[in-house]
Parts: sequence; structure tokens; C-alpha cells
Amino acid sequence: MSTNNESSVSHRTATSMRDLLCGELRSEHIGQVVRVCGWVARRREHGEHLAFVDLRDHTGIIQCVVDGSTDVRSEYVVQITGTVRPRPEGTLNDALDTGEVEIGDCRVEILSVAEPPPFGLEDRSEVDEQIRLRYRYLDLRRPRMQRNLRLRAAVNRALRSAMDRQGFVEVETPILWAPTPEGAREFTVPSRLHNGSFYVLPQSPQLAKQLLMVGGIDRYYQIARCMRDEDLRADRQFEFTQLDLEASFVTQEDVMAFVSEAVLDAAEVATGVRPGAIPQITWHEAMDRFGVDKPDLRVEIELTDLSALFAESEVRAFAAPVVKALKIPAGAAFTRSKLDALTDTAKALGAKGLAWFRVQDAGKLDSPLDRFLNEQEREGIVTATKAESGDLVLVVADEWRLSVEVLGALRAQLLSPPVGEGEARYVWVMDFPMFDGVDGAGNPISAHHPFTMPHPEDFELLKTDPLKARSQAYDLVLNGWELGSGSVRIHRPDLQSEVFSALGISEEEAEKRFGFLLGAFRHGAPPHAGFAFGIDRLVAIFTGADTIREVIAFPKTQSGTDLMTQAPSTISNSALLELGIRTITKES
Ligand code: AMO
Repeated sequence: MSTNNESSVSHRTATSMRDLLCGELRSEHIGQVVRVCGWVARRREHGEHLAFVDLRDHTGIIQCVVDGSTDVRSEYVVQITGTVRPRPEGTLNDALDTGEVEIGDCRVEILSVAEPPPFGLEDRSEVDEQIRLRYRYLDLRRPRMQRNLRLRAAVNRALRSAMDRQGFVEVETPILWAPTPEGAREFTVPSRLHNGSFYVLPQSPQLAKQLLMVGGIDRYYQIARCMRDEDLRADRQFEFTQLDLEASFVTQEDVMAFVSEAVLDAAEVATGVRPGAIPQITWHEAMDRFGVDKPDLRVEIELTDLSALFAESEVRAFAAPVVKALKIPAGAAFTRSKLDALTDTAKALGAKGLAWFRVQDAGKLDSPLDRFLNEQEREGIVTATKAESGDLVLVVADEWRLSVEVLGALRAQLLSPPVGEGEARYVWVMDFPMFDGVDGAGNPISAHHPFTMPHPEDFELLKTDPLKARSQAYDLVLNGWELGSGSVRIHRPDLQSEVFSALGISEEEAEKRFGFLLGAFRHGAPPHAGFAFGIDRLVAIFTGADTIREVIAFPKTQSGTDLMTQAPSTISNSALLELGIRTITKES
């Protein structure tokens, strides 16, 4: 995705030490004596009496010519004073914005010396991520990281402005907090004053923002740091940042409009183009057409239903409530071992197997199952999926949810381009189920969280068939990544009790875990609804990165360590004693 260069310098750049930034110098400055400061990107000697120093700061590079020799080396920090002049004919450099000029007659003052950097700081040098993270402060000097962090700041600015404009008030909520029911494992912080007791770092400001609604704040937002102790992936860190919001006396449509405005403003600032209105589909439709609740709409191919075609079939493998298919263009070229690997993936996701059909000339099929098909079925597979010679058709027959989910995962794996590539396709996914399966004790598990309002048409189902009940929860999805989630909240204690009871949470337990919230609700809670989206994910996609680590200044590695500070690390015995903590070594 192309990004706007938001770092255009409109503020006052001069300081007591410099007059201009390196990347600002142009022909209009010719003749001026200027001071610039920065890091030595490169030094070249021309004989004993002439040295070229490429000076770099976050705006770019300017060539400085020093008469005589200079002992500056790569990454030394220097102040250079000299006269701006045109570059000699034939030495103009199109690759640099400053390429028409140079600073001549330079006087160089060394402000800091530097060890030779462990890797090249130009964008083009490919460096192992572990090394980049070990020396993140050097990695940050590279143009790409400079661009990413500045773009992130511009996105934050646009989000704040959109929220302010829509009447939202920025309120900071506690970082030392109590457990909230977001479903992830929490980070705990031992209390020194109350030995044996712990604070919990917030997974999100969920309960705090609902309390703000009871407090009459009406419209709250925060660029909120959240902490979750979960397995790290390309789109997940322990610490991440949400644009979090909540509003009173609103419906889900109101919340979606607030969020759309903020996201579209941010997209416009980041890419220079304002995306069109964001389409909506229901959760059921998303699952049925794309096999996933976060569909990548850049991929046009959808799942095809073959249930009717195989309703009376003799093919034993297809005797199931639902038969779904997915076309993979040019997939007939897949090797047997690749097809075996796909079958293993399908089985790992719960399928009994994965049927595959290589489409050959004249609609002929190459497949171990071909000899069991009749002519109508053979033709049906090809026409229903609109497959052509050279394509592959994958088929899963099972319960609806399992068949669509397995093919949805294969669609994402085989057909989705990297998340930041191509156009940005946003979509709202609505009407999520209230519950997502059952836990070991047979109790339903909240799909969003236990304060989510059921769908107005499904209140009765809560008692009769809770797993069928829909909720007023909605997600925003971009290119197959979940950007954010939200819901209308339950504000009536009687309904909340019903939902707790459906979840198998006793009144006693509810009072113990969320008593403060339920207590607040007894003091007059306005109807309210909210949303939160991951700023790391949004900015990563805007920059074309495929992991959020690229837009976070100091991220953790996949195994949760900070390679620069070596956190997490042990603490002294005296610190442990003060906290009343004894560590034990877990047996592995
Ligand atoms: P949810 O848990 O869906 O909802 O989180 C909202 C969004 O936060 C981002 N996110 C993450 N980003 C990076 N690393 C992580 N570990 C991580 N976990 C979540 C995602 C996700 O969509 N309180 C509710 C929102 C509400 O109902 O108002 C909540 O936090 O982009």
C-alpha cells in the first residue's frame, strides 16, 4: 500500500545548534551559510585534501564537502557549518531530494564519536530481525523505521482529531487494575503494601469505560495501552495499543459510524486516499461465503456449496450435512506432497479428510475419488466452482461450521496476498453469535465478553438454545486481519443475570468478579455501546508491513523477550522479599 510522506517539515526546525534539517536543503538555499547536525552516513576521501561527508538526519541526506581531511567515521554525530552551493555539473544525484546542492567549505565539529555500526543503516541492507531488535536504537535511524513511526504518529493525530470532532472526551484509565473478562491470560503485578495481593494489567479498559458511562462521561475515548499474556504472532504483542471508545444512548449503527469516521480519516492521512463507505455483512454470511469471520475481500473466490449436488450421492466421503468446495486457480500443478500437506492441515483443523480434484482438459478430473463420481457430479463440481483446466478444487464434507472453517483457512493460506499488499478492503462483520462453543464443564463461552447484549430477536434463545443466539457484537476487518471489535453492552441487571446464568457463572461468583460493575449498574446505567481497534495492526497495514513489530518502537520477539534490555530478567532477593515473593523453579 502506498503511503503519504507525512513528515513534511512545517514546524520550526531551527534550533540553537542548527539552521535547517539535512533533507530540507534545496537550490533556493544556495549562497547561505548554514549549520546542520546529524549522523555521518558515509565518508569518502578524495586525496589528502578533500573529503565528502554524507550527513543524515530523519529528513534525509545532504552531501558536505570538507577541504582538508577529517577524522569523522560512520555514525559519528557532528555539526557541520558551511555554504550551500550547486553541485558541480555532472554530479547531480537524482536519488536524493537534496541532490542538486551540497554544503561546501565545511567546518566539522564532532559532537559524539561512535563505534562502527553492526549493520548498514540504509533501507536496502537486509538485516536479521534479531540483530535489528538487539540494536533497535540503530535500526530506528533507518529511513523505513523513521517513516513507520512518523506515520503512526500521524495516524494517532488523525484519530484524536476525529474523536474530538465527534464529541468524545479523552480519559485515562488505570494501568494497575483488577481482572477483566476479556479471555486472555493477564499480567499480574505484586503489591508491596499488600503482600500476597496482586494488581492486574488491563487487557483493555473495558470495564473502566463502562463505568465512565455510568459516570455520565457520555462519549469516552483513549489511545490505550493494553497488556495480554498470550502467544505472540505477526499481529500480536504482549503490549499493544487500541483506539478504545464507548458512548451512551447509542445503537450499534451509531458506534460503527463513529469508528468508520476515525478509521477512514486515518486511512486518508496515511495513504492519501479516502476509502469508500465500509460494507457490512453478517457473521453467518461471512462464514458461509468465506469460511472465516475476518474475510479477506481482496480475494474474489468464495466457497461454493455442493450440498445439493451430493445430497443423493453414492460417494461415501460426501455423505455429510454440508459439502463445500473451494477453487484454487492453477492449483492442478500442486505436487502430491503439497496436496498431502493440505490434507494434514485440514485434518488438524478437525476435518475427516480433504478431497481434491485437479481439473484437466475438457472438464476431466484427476482425483482418487474420480472413479466414484457419476457424470453429473463430475460436471457439477466444475461448473459450480467455475473451475477451468489447470485449476484445483478442494472439497470438505462435514457439519456446516467445520466445512466452512477448514476451507476458509485454506483460502487464507493459499489465496491471500500479504496483508499490506494491494488495495485496502474494509468490511464490518455483524451479528456475531453470543457464544462460541462450550467449555470443559459444558458451559457456553462468551464469543465477545459476558457484558455483550444479545440480538433483540434472540432473547428467548438464551434460555432455550443459547448456542444459536446472536449478539449485538460487530468486528471491523481489513484484508483478512481483525482490526477491532465492539458490542452493545447489557445495562440491565436482570438481563445480565440471565447471561451469567447461561454462561454458568453463579450470582456469587459474578458478584465476586464483577461486583463493582454490577453495583454501578444498580445506580442508573445508560444504554451504552463501544468498540476498540488495534492501532498497531492498522498502521502495519498502512505501511505495507506484514507484522506489527515494524510499527512498534521497541517490540518483543516472538518468544516474548526484549533483546535490547534482556527483559524479562530476575530481580534481587531483597526486592523479592519486599514484595513477599519466593520464586520456585517449575519442573519441566
Ligand atoms: P478485542 O479483545 O477484540 O476487544 O480487542 C480489540 C482489538 O485489539 C487488537 N488486539 C491486539 N493487537 C495486538 N496484539 C494483541 N495481543 C492484541 N489483542 C487484541 C486487535 C483487536 O481487534 N474491550 C474490547 C473492545 C470492546 O468491546 O469495546 C476488546 O478489547 O486489533
